[in-house]
Amino acid sequence: MTDKNKTKPLAVVTGGTKGIGQAICQKLLHQGYDIITCSRSEKDLTKLKNDFAESPGGVISMVADLSKPSEVKEFISFINSQTKELDILVNNAGIFLPGEILNEEEGHLELTMNTNLYSAYHLTRGVIGLLRGASKPHIFNMCSIASKIAYPNGGSYSISKFALLGFTKVLREELKTRGSGSRPFSLAPRGRLRGRELIFRKAD
Ligand SMILES: NC(=O)c1ccc[n+]([C@@H]2O[C@H](COP(=O)([O-])OP(=O)(O)OC[C@H]3O[C@@H](n4cnc5c(N)ncnc54)[C@H](OP(=O)(O)O)[C@@H]3O)[C@@H](O)[C@H]2O)c1
Repeated sequence: MTDKNKTKPLAVVTGGTKGIGQAICQKLLHQGYDIITCSRSEKDLTKLKNDFAESPGGVISMVADLSKPSEVKEFISFINSQTKELDILVNNAGIFLPGEILNEEEGHLELTMNTNLYSAYHLTRGVIGLLRGASKPHIFNMCSIASKIAYPNGGSYSISKFALLGFTKVLREELKTRGSGSRPFSLAPRGRLRGRELIFRKAD
């Protein structure tokens, strides 16, 4: 459990066990952030903790399938039980099921929207109160080039990423009018690593 009168900065990164989410966790842990993360695999979460046991920051984790609204709620409760203040939220967890709108499997859209969009929407709503307490709160939503450019086999994935970018833009405007210090950003990973550095662009 984190210190309720926290001394270290704290970030929530969904899907921190693999790929981009893991790289973000690594960076933040080395900078002294504590991380709260989740994935569907207990084994991978334990490995993440072990791999970064020597880092200045610590890993707090929970198994949660964010495609399921009930488990998003449980993850929100878990975060709220760990801290009163949050510095960074990274809505990173996402799936890509290749396909075309006209011939992808039934249910692709629902699963993809639940995982890539609704989890970010509900999680953000559930922890925004914790972010308001921080001096420099940030929200990052892991968008994609598929948030901006339509391509033939983007299918439901592209629909979900367009919507995630829309969510980010609307939230940014709302937070401006509330005078909140929270700043939502959309990121578009380039889909590969250049050298050892992850390449990101702002999606908007
Ligand atoms: N890699 C790229 O080229 C690229 C390009 C553009 C955008 N993106 C976006 O960047 C994000 C990360 O991509 P990535 O390539 O790093 O993916 P990845 O390697 O497949 O990792 C995804 C992470 O999210 C977790 N996750 C997936 N579904 C989940 C669920 N239902 N509930 C909880 N956790 C879940 C995974 O853990 P479990 O599977 O164990 O649950 C894993 O930790 C995604 O949103 C993706 O759309 C990636």
